Amino acid sequence: MTEQTKILVIGANGQLGIELTAALQEKHGYEQVITSDIHPPKKQHALFEPLDILDKDRLYALVEKYKVTDIYLLAAILSAKGEQNPMLTWQVNIDGLMHVLELARDAKVSKIFWPSSIAVFGGTTPKQNTPQETVTSPTTMYGISKLSGERLCAYYAQKFGVDVRSLRYPGLIGYKALPGGGTTDFAVEIYHKALEEVAYHCFLKEDTVLPLMYMPDAVRATIELMEVDADEISVRSSYNLSGFSCSPADIAEVIRKTMPDFKIDYRPDFRQKIADSWPNSIDDSKAQEDWNWKPQFDLQAMSAEMLENLKRMKAAKTAVNLS
Ligand code: NAD
Ligand code: SER
Repeated sequence: MTEQTKILVIGANGQLGIELTAALQEKHGYEQVITSDIHPPKKQHALFEPLDILDKDRLYALVEKYKVTDIYLLAAILSAKGEQNPMLTWQVNIDGLMHVLELARDAKVSKIFWPSSIAVFGGTTPKQNTPQETVTSPTTMYGISKLSGERLCAYYAQKFGVDVRSLRYPGLIGYKALPGGGTTDFAVEIYHKALEEVAYHCFLKEDTVLPLMYMPDAVRATIELMEVDADEISVRSSYNLSGFSCSPADIAEVIRKTMPDFKIDYRPDFRQKIADSWPNSIDDSKAQEDWNWKPQFDLQAMSAEMLENLKRMKAAKTAVNLS
């Protein structure tokens, strides 16, 4: 990173964007990070510019205006929402990526981060310890767009020397923002319901095991990958990334250790089929080899932090309401 690093985060108001933006501001300076999203921010957390990623002219204008060097393209339609509007999902996830890759090909920016997902895998993929290179047979429009996006990233890197970097995130869990319409949203919602002291009606079956990750690990992985020397990066499609694996029942059991009255029932809906097509666990040895990736949070450590922070936030809100 040089003194002149200027970052544009696209899709900054989402679950990941809110936390990644704060970490980037801390690292590079508040003034160095421009946030953008199709929707206005709930709280003015940074220098904000409205941007629809499908508006290529405005994207180019913002890059020119701020002399942007690095783009974090987080704008996307996630797996569950994507099934309600497959065409829009393809447009946002793929046309949006193409706009940013073309910017880099035109040498307007020097580095791109674009996230992929475990959704690139499907029913015929090996489920346990899913390897970096294996069968990818996605069944959702979201997964199909992420797989296509991975191939586009690899193509632009190989053909045009574009420095694009990517991670296949597992389901992300954080307390600072609500999730945006994915199949792993249950793993965040469950903590909110526990703190509200109401029963959680889980939309997946109790024994559905999925790869998950606590947000601070995801943010750290992203920043670490973006700081590695370009020569060290052997995967230009997207790196497998692993945190821990568990089921809704496993999370409920951990919550009950401190909240014994917590109640959950299981009412699987259309998201069950999506979850069933995804891996149970991920082999991220390539990320370990290339840039020393290692997660810090397991289910217990994450649960403790989620409950503690959500409790603190609830208490602060109550205090404000009483004052
Ligand atoms: P999110 O849905 O919470 O946030 C996405 C943001 O993109 C939203 O703020 C939305 O307003 C914005 N957006 C949507 N359409 C846009 C458009 N046309 N132009 C500009 N902005 C637009 O999603 P997230 O969880 O923050 O995910 C961020 C990235 O990480 C996505 O690429 C997603 O696929 C990937 N990812 C997330 C998870 C997860 O569990 N959250 C897992 C794997 C990969
Ligand atoms: N967590 C995301 C989703 O469920 C996976 O990319 O859509």
